Amino acid sequence: MHDGNDERANDELHDGGRSFVPLARAGGFGAKRRSAAEVYSEAKMKRLTLVLGGAAVAGLAAVIAVAQQSGDTQEESLVFLGELMSPKEISAGRKLYAENCASCHGVKLEGQADWKRRLDSGKMPAPPHDETGHTWHHSDQDLFTITKSGVSAVVAGYDSDMPAFDGVLSDAEIRTVLAYIKTTWPDRQREYQEKITKNERAKP
Ligand code: HEC
Repeated sequence: MHDGNDERANDELHDGGRSFVPLARAGGFGAKRRSAAEVYSEAKMKRLTLVLGGAAVAGLAAVIAVAQQSGDTQEESLVFLGELMSPKEISAGRKLYAENCASCHGVKLEGQADWKRRLDSGKMPAPPHDETGHTWHHSDQDLFTITKSGVSAVVAGYDSDMPAFDGVLSDAEIRTVLAYIKTTWPDRQREYQEKITKNERAKP
């Protein structure tokens, strides 16, 4: 004869409850009795952890508050090729984008019309630089190389209408333009591109 409780104990041996059993054993059903002093010091540790955790959260909140404040008034800062670009540099990048890139890639980074369809010349139109394009699929290094030396510097032999900006923009200017482009991406695209950039930099 068994009641509901027995049945549950039985089930635990078969399905998801299985993991519960060794855990309970590890906790030591009487395997090791803890003294009152041990229990007390454990409780103290827990409280300390809670206090420290609370301080960390408060600190983080302060950092976020500052970040939001500065975001309201001016451009944000952002890392490009491992370097922190200041709001001033990003704002210079925005201007350089308008002067050098917008004619093809669009004032709002929207790209050329029908940008996915090959032109009669056999080449591709300028793609958007916002999240609807694939600029964010490339690492910081590749974006820099494409802008400085053209697409063929990354894909050998590739014929493209994308001009090389070597001699037109300095390396520092190219970095600010690309950093500005990155500030326009939503979190998902930023995180994806950050991973690609990190993986690439990790290569020997
Ligand atoms: C004369 C037109 C033109 C101008 C100006 C121009 N581009 Fe491009 N760009 C293109 C075209 C066309 C492509 C597509 C290349 C291809 O696939 O053949 C391209 C591609 C790119 C790509 C690769 C994008 C991807 O998703 O693969 C980057 C990065 C880029 N351009 C950056 C810039 C930047 C930064 C500027 C300004 C400093 C700029 N371009 C100015 C025409 C232009």
